[in-house]
Amino acid sequence: MTDKISLNVNGKTHVIDADPDMPLLYALRNDIGLNNPRFGCGLAQCGACTVHLDGQPIRSCITPVSAVGAGRIVTLAGLGTPEKPHPLQTAYVEEQVPQCGYCINGWIMTAAAFLRDNKRPTEAQIKDALSGLKCRCGTHVSILRAVKRAAIQMS
Ligand code: FES
Ligand code: FES
Repeated sequence: MTDKISLNVNGKTHVIDADPDMPLLYALRNDIGLNNPRFGCGLAQCGACTVHLDGQPIRSCITPVSAVGAGRIVTLAGLGTPEKPHPLQTAYVEEQVPQCGYCINGWIMTAAAFLRDNKRPTEAQIKDALSGLKCRCGTHVSILRAVKRAAIQMS
């Protein structure tokens, strides 16, 4: 059984036919064509699927599409543009963080909300804020360098 569901994503309204219990992640990737949020664990354990809902990071793999309502969703593609990238996107390039790149979405979306609300964070605060994320390639040291670099830009 499907319903018509309206989603505000990166400033645009999308109306999709979907089972209300379907994860938001599937709507973003399969119905709307935004592939930055990734399917990692599907169990809220890795963060690869993170998007912002009204400015707060959520795990879209466990968020039913019907739970979003009129909330504003922002994905990594909506965080910055090639012409005007978010400081974290710039820092990821400058620090040459990615290896396979699968996890990037989760780290940047989580760090973006954290740095917006925490100017001049300590290293311990950054590590704590990002502690629920996984990178199987082991890029944690360069991720930390990139987040610190972006923190300076955003402070
Ligand atoms: S895919 Fe959502 S937290 Fe892992
Ligand atoms: S860069 Fe490969 S999982 Fe993080």
